[in-house]
Amino acid sequence: MTRPASAKDRIIAAIDVADEAAALNLIRRLRGRVGLFKLGLELFTASGPDIVVKAKVEGEAGVFLDLKFHDIPNTVAGAARSASRLGVDMLTIHLAGGGAMLAAASAAVASGTLLLGVSVLTSSSAETQFEIGADADIPSQVNRLVGLGVANNIRGFVASGHEIKALRAAFGRDICLVIPGIRPSGAVKAGDDQQRVMTPARAVAIGADYLVIGRPITADPDPAEAAGKIADDIARGVPSGTHGHV
Ligand code: C5P
Repeated sequence: MTRPASAKDRIIAAIDVADEAAALNLIRRLRGRVGLFKLGLELFTASGPDIVVKAKVEGEAGVFLDLKFHDIPNTVAGAARSASRLGVDMLTIHLAGGGAMLAAASAAVASGTLLLGVSVLTSSSAETQFEIGADADIPSQVNRLVGLGVANNIRGFVASGHEIKALRAAFGRDICLVIPGIRPSGAVKAGDDQQRVMTPARAVAIGADYLVIGRPITADPDPAEAAGKIADDIARGVPSGTHGHV
């Protein structure tokens, strides 16, 4: 499994914009400052697969395609193969799709594509779990789904910072953990939809491999500088940032 070589390489910038021009503009500004760019459903659906190639060329970095596949094994395997052929470095699938789907997807991707399993979405509550008939509490459900992934050859997982310790205790260092909900100041700004946050250095100190960071970088007047400061904090192991740029 690939491990990030430097603090900068740990940073995955979430390019959560709706159109290609805005995405490529941001990606160019961040060239050399981050390890990967995360492209999501909105941008991919609007721009089409070419955005993956353009992002790789313009950004001179990896691409994480966050499409969260969940379908029958044959369909997910085909979609994962297509994404892998585009040169995608990381790709998400829903662990809830089941063991056969996970194994089929894992067999379909080239070695350069790290499949990441998504467990329970952070938008899910105990009520959502009840609605869909999943009666385990959320931490148990996350543990169960990650275990299912490991048993079916999935080696990377998206998890909240607050799940890192439990997942490392249960599954060790062999899995790759990709963590969103990162805030450099360690504080939530008014109006922010991320409620349970963690600083970059703290997340890395307790076992995160990669950090998904969106607005603290992309909403900063100088995204390259914001990314650079985050990489410095990670490299120095600063537990909580003092830059105030949430
Ligand atoms: O702007 P912000 O740093 O909150 O962006 C975080 C990114 O990580 C977004 O693209 C969001 O969809 C994604 N994400 C998340 N929480 C999860 C999984 C993914 O915020 N549990």
